[in-house]
Amino acid sequence: MSFLTPEARPLLPVVILLSGTGTNFSAIAAAAAAGALPVEIKLVVSDKPDAPGLERARKLNIPTCYLRMADFPNRAAHDQAMAQAIDAAAPKLVILAGYMRILDTAFITHYQGRLLNIHPALLPEFKGLNTHQRALDARVQWHGCTVHFVCDELDAGARIAQARLKILENDSAQSLAQRVHQLEHILYPAVIAWYASGRLRETDGVAYLDGHPLTAPILIGDTDA
Ligand code: GAR
Repeated sequence: MSFLTPEARPLLPVVILLSGTGTNFSAIAAAAAAGALPVEIKLVVSDKPDAPGLERARKLNIPTCYLRMADFPNRAAHDQAMAQAIDAAAPKLVILAGYMRILDTAFITHYQGRLLNIHPALLPEFKGLNTHQRALDARVQWHGCTVHFVCDELDAGARIAQARLKILENDSAQSLAQRVHQLEHILYPAVIAWYASGRLRETDGVAYLDGHPLTAPILIGDTDA
């Protein structure tokens, strides 16, 4: 049991991995800066030297580094070097925020239970890429995003929470991507806050919130539109 008030609780050190624009990184950083998320972003890591997300981090004076896959003989060597860089920052949680490479098994095992991902679909539907177009093609009614613990199988780790929207008649893959992004920026900081306050954990491939196993993901901010 902790006797610390939320204000007095130390910030959870986290590292964020990204490959692209970094709007999820920005949402997490903004929530932390606003005092709504008790984390300290120790490092932002990318596989792409020119990822705009790295520039976003630099503007906030957050340390960054990049490791290009081309500079390593294989994925295992790349991910091992990445783990060394991450561990030097001593995070309690590693956050994938648009990191677009499959991770090596040893890397995933090393961070088991402290590795989160956000995926732009209502898992288990539409694992992998091009989720928005595939949701349109499948003519599903609902679409959205999922935060889950990462396991060795792609987009198949224990689901924690989802946010969803109804697909509109005139939605395109682009408009869906924009609308899902807005949900992601609410969902991800909320789930990270659960983890940072000790409410969320993963044991043996099962996610627990407040000690209860999550047999289905929690739906956050449900909207009809
Ligand atoms: C987000 O939509 C995230 O769900 C997705 O990449 C985007 C990154 O956006 N992640 C994946 O597809 C992982 N398989 P951002 O760079 O603006 O945060």
